[in-house]
Amino acid sequence: MLTTAQLQEIAGAIRARTQHRPTIGLILGSGLGSLANEISHADVIPYTDLPHWPPSTVHGHSGQLVIGNLEGQVVLAMQGRIHFYEGYTMQQITMPVRVMALLGISTLIVTNAAGGINRAFEVGDPMLIVDHINFLGMVGMNPLMGPNLDEFGPRFPAMANAYDRDLGELARQVAQANGINLREGVYCALSGPFYETPAELRFLQVIGADAVGMSTAPEVVVARHNGMRSLGISGITNVCDLTGDSPANHEEVIEAGKVLVPRLTKILRGVLAQMPQ
Ligand code: HPA
Repeated sequence: MLTTAQLQEIAGAIRARTQHRPTIGLILGSGLGSLANEISHADVIPYTDLPHWPPSTVHGHSGQLVIGNLEGQVVLAMQGRIHFYEGYTMQQITMPVRVMALLGISTLIVTNAAGGINRAFEVGDPMLIVDHINFLGMVGMNPLMGPNLDEFGPRFPAMANAYDRDLGELARQVAQANGINLREGVYCALSGPFYETPAELRFLQVIGADAVGMSTAPEVVVARHNGMRSLGISGITNVCDLTGDSPANHEEVIEAGKVLVPRLTKILRGVLAQMPQ
C-alpha cells in the first residue's frame, strides 16, 4: 500500500522533470501507445526514473511518461500501463491515477485492447465504454480496499457515471465526423493473463458484457474516487470465440492494434481539440 507521502514524492519527482502542468491524463493500452509519440514539446520520463513506480513487464508496453502538448491541451500520457496480472497490487496499478490527481489532472482518458463479446463487433472496431463490470473489484480485488484516503475522496464513492457522459457524447460526435464506426458497450475487467474459456465468455455475454479485457476498471474506479472524469475507449482486437474453436492470442491482439491506432488517434485528437480547456 502506497502512502500519500509516497504518492506526493512521485508527483514531486515528475514536477521536477517538466515545466508542463498537465490537466488531462492519458493511459494508452496494449499496442496503442504511439499517440504519445505525437505529443509536442514533450518531456519523457521512463518509469524506472521515478520512485515507487513499478516498471511495466509486458512486451509491447514501453513504460514511460510523455508530458507535453497535444491538440492545444497539456497532457500527461502513460505509454504502457501496469497490469494486475504482472503481480502488482491494485494500489500499485492505480498509483498513477492518484499521482495524476496530485498533479492537478482532472480528466482521465483510457484506451485498452479488448476482446469483443458482442456479436456485432468486428476486429478493429473502437468501442466507447459506457459502463463497466469490474469483476475484480466485485470479488474484493479493488484499489479502494483498506483505509480510505480521505484526502482523495469519500469512503463510499458512487460508480454511476464512472464514464463521463459529456466526454462520451463528444467522442461520438468526433467519430461520426471522421466516418469512424464507434461501437458502444460495457467493458468487463478480468485479471488475466489467460484468455477466457468459452464457458467464461458465454457467462460474460449473459451478464451484459460487450467487451472483455485485463485493465481499465481499477484505474477508472480510482479516477472516480479522486473526483476526476473519465473517457474510456476499447479497441476490439479479437472477436471472442464462444465455442472454443479459435482461441485468442497475444499476437493477434498486437496485430489488430495497428488497425486501431489510426482510428483511436483520430477520436482522441478530436476529443482533445474540442474539449474545453
Ligand atoms: N480477453 C481478455 N483480454 C483481452 C482480450 C480478450 O479476448 N483481447 C484483448 N485483451
